Amino acid sequence: MQGQQVLITGGTGGLGTAVTRAVLEQGAAVTLPYRQARDMERLLAVLPPAEAERVTFKQADLTDEAAVADLIGEMAQLDALIHLVGGFSMGPTAEYSYADWQGAFELNLHTTFLLCKHSLKKMQARNYGRIVTVGSRGAVEPVGQLAAYCASKAGVVALTKAIADEMKGTNITANIVLPSVIDTPTNRRAMGEENASQWVTPASLAQVICFLASAAAKDIRGAAIPVYGNV
Ligand SMILES: NC(=O)c1ccc[n+]([C@@H]2O[C@H](COP(=O)([O-])OP(=O)(O)OC[C@H]3O[C@@H](n4cnc5c(N)ncnc54)[C@H](OP(=O)(O)O)[C@@H]3O)[C@@H](O)[C@H]2O)c1
Repeated sequence: MQGQQVLITGGTGGLGTAVTRAVLEQGAAVTLPYRQARDMERLLAVLPPAEAERVTFKQADLTDEAAVADLIGEMAQLDALIHLVGGFSMGPTAEYSYADWQGAFELNLHTTFLLCKHSLKKMQARNYGRIVTVGSRGAVEPVGQLAAYCASKAGVVALTKAIADEMKGTNITANIVLPSVIDTPTNRRAMGEENASQWVTPASLAQVICFLASAAAKDIRGAAIPVYGNV
């Protein structure tokens, strides 16, 4: 990825920190939107200074189309979009509020649409681009108490595959990874550490994402790749 320009959303998160490090280790420059300065500072604290120099931070709320358009419009070049923004919420469907339902779709699916839409315009101008999105095991194996999360992530799978189909015949690809439980500090706090050794590590998942985001993955289109570790 030497010399490439990569947009990583959610790059300050549990998975995003590992993905940002992996992309920088491969020599790319990274544009990284964030919402809160403390998250940017936490990420900067774990990056080697020589790699941190290749990160351009921009404050942006990615549910806002104008902010997404500005973010991408300001990039000189966009070789790969790695869209990691997303989030988890749970509850019985009969009790689940419509506001929370809409929030899950806004966070998981609508941000993916906005980032892909504006990235595609830029990528089509050069006939080159890699899009990697993140679903979840629940998108293809839905479970109770997680209807909004599973349904919105299933939408991300469908959107990614539709884009991959639209881009056939070009050098622009779109693929999605489907993690089960990722070994993040948040998950360890929420679920305990007893089974953590079975979970997929952020560093391991980052390698799969980096490959899909690289020029070498040119013939992989519309794949939904399970990355479940040992769960
Ligand atoms: N963790 C798991 O076990 C797991 C399993 C399957 C799939 N996934 C998926 O993997 C992805 C990353 O998960 P994670 O555990 O790394 O999540 P995370 O730690 O919560 O990170 C999510 C990141 O997205 C950012 N973000 C959220 N809303 C945003 C917005 N409107 N505009 C800009 N940035 C926004 C967050 O910033 P703020 O701090 O400002 O909110 C945070 O940096 C998600 O799509 C998640 O659904 C995770």
